[in-house]
Amino acid sequence: MEYFDRHQGGERAILVHVAVQMLKDLDAEEFQLLAKSAGADILEQVTAQRQRPDPKLFIGSGKAEELAVLVEDLEAELVIFDHALSPGQERNLEKILKCRVIDRTGLILDIFAQRARTHEGKLQVELAQLEHLSTRLVRGWTHLERQKGGIGLRGPGESQLETDRRLLRVRMGQLKDKLEKVRQTRIQGRAARQKAAIPTVSLVGYTNAGKSTLFNILANSEVYAADQLFATLDPTLRRLNWDGIGSLVLADTVGFVRDLPHSLVESFKATLEETLEATLLLHVIDSSSPDMMEQIEAVEEVLKEIGADVPILRVYNKIDQSGEDAKIIYASPNTPDRVYVSAYSQQGLDLLKQAVQESLVGQIQTFELSLKPAYGKLRTALYNLNVIQSEDYNDDGDLLIHVRIAPHKLEQTIKQLHLPIDEILGEAAQQFKRPLEAFEVEQH
Ligand code: GTP
Repeated sequence: MEYFDRHQGGERAILVHVAVQMLKDLDAEEFQLLAKSAGADILEQVTAQRQRPDPKLFIGSGKAEELAVLVEDLEAELVIFDHALSPGQERNLEKILKCRVIDRTGLILDIFAQRARTHEGKLQVELAQLEHLSTRLVRGWTHLERQKGGIGLRGPGESQLETDRRLLRVRMGQLKDKLEKVRQTRIQGRAARQKAAIPTVSLVGYTNAGKSTLFNILANSEVYAADQLFATLDPTLRRLNWDGIGSLVLADTVGFVRDLPHSLVESFKATLEETLEATLLLHVIDSSSPDMMEQIEAVEEVLKEIGADVPILRVYNKIDQSGEDAKIIYASPNTPDRVYVSAYSQQGLDLLKQAVQESLVGQIQTFELSLKPAYGKLRTALYNLNVIQSEDYNDDGDLLIHVRIAPHKLEQTIKQLHLPIDEILGEAAQQFKRPLEAFEVEQH
């Protein structure tokens, strides 16, 4: 597998975190992590407070002068603002500070550019970079600086930096066409997987929750994991063979982050398209994070927004730090709701596999149905669902059918036709009548 090189020798950067009364306060700690993720060597974090952003400089002119002195004293190469700046504000600030200035969008794009792995991811990042850039083309930064690269100047879009707007538009058009083709190919691949009835299990979760680490261990493969944000950008797929399930595809996805700049929301969501088609989502949660609840909400909110109507199994990771026991909590018998593990100490991984198996198998089971000749319409319905495995007759002349189907689907089909479920399913009908209650299974 091919990886992007880390930026060597951190760029000397000053961070500017502005609390603006009329804007939402952003998480200063997360901002630092993001900057470190991009390879910045943080010299100082400056904070400022304002009622509203200054139209010319975002911060006040006095603060800008102070910052200019600091840039000179500390020999900073870069100033990163934790807000979206207009192209004009960036330009004006660069004039005063006499060094490069990038905003939150530029920073996140840079991280995306470094982490994009798949062809589609790279195209998407390049497109977003060009869109961000097309409004900033006129700024007078020297060719030398640009060729040297650095935060905000790297990535697939880099060679386009000197092109004029018209060429940019042509390139953006080409990228959109290419992306469309890549998407089509991916959709076809997905269709083939679905035909072969291979379940897809996708890992989703807040950035730094431990998805890549878990993916590594489960896939028993080498995928990049680091104590940095966005260690994964694109869905990364592995075909696995697990006992009791058979073939399955495991997919890793890009981490979520709060307050993603608007212009990036679409390209971020596009990286999640694959999850819409998953059979099961593993929502990986950092159970040791003080922000756990907000993070869970942020993730499940976005999943709802993109219309992911897929069962979710919550995986509370990092129990080595949060002090929980490895366990499965069930929503109802055979339907796990959440499982507690540590990818790091490898506690609870067997329980996780068990929970995945139960979740998947809970969705598709084999049933033996016995059908009187009068129930022919059920046979037709099952035939149309393409779930019949074999057919035979018993001594009474009843039709015996083996089907592989999700229980709820079978129940629904039989009930829609107003047929007697007990008679058709025999003992297997019991499972539709069990009371729903939560209970736990502790690891031995
Ligand atoms: P993004 O790609 O940014 O979305 O992150 P991710 O969710 O893929 O997280 P990743 O696997 O890169 O892990 C983030 C950090 O958490 C790394 O430093 C891991 O070593 C650490 N980590 C992962 N799992 C555990 C765990 O079970 N316990 C502890 N203590 N640390 C863990």
